Amino acid sequence: MKTIITYGTFDLFHVGHVRLLQRLKRLGDRLVIGLSTDEFNTQKGKTVVIPYADRKEVLLSCKYVDDVFPEENWEQKRQDIQRENADIFAIGDDWIGKFDDLNDIVDVLYLPRTQDISTTDIKAVMSQIEEDKKKEIKNLFSHLSSLVTKL
Ligand code: CTP
Repeated sequence: MKTIITYGTFDLFHVGHVRLLQRLKRLGDRLVIGLSTDEFNTQKGKTVVIPYADRKEVLLSCKYVDDVFPEENWEQKRQDIQRENADIFAIGDDWIGKFDDLNDIVDVLYLPRTQDISTTDIKAVMSQIEEDKKKEIKNLFSHLSSLVTKL
């Protein structure tokens, strides 16, 4: 039984996440995820859209994922790796080199990210839509008020 462990926020679950999880699961038999809690995200300076319980439910519904546990701080990884009996620690290559110190207890791998998609990109698209809507409403109001002044 080969266990793979990974970490992340997985907010607004997208195809980049799916592909990473698929590749991780192919490395062994059991995939466990340390899912960053909402509080830990706040500490990291990230605001999540989807709360922890819902992000966990989404991950557990994915066929590549076997278990999810909370990631609450930067220091817990060694303990998690030992508890989960993990053979491989793997994560996207945006973290390249960052977890090499774990190499003494686990194989550390960095996998290529899927290009052109991220939670940050989705949030940017969502806020652009919001901005466009605000502009539309503002334009509508100024059009209406100019009509009223003409009456
Ligand atoms: N990931 C990936 N390909 C992407 C986006 C994410 O392989 N296009 C991987 C990350 O490298 C990480 C995991 O998915 O191992 C969870 O990443 P997360 O930070 O939750 O997702 P992002 O979309 O990168 O979120 P953000 O933009 O907020 O950093």
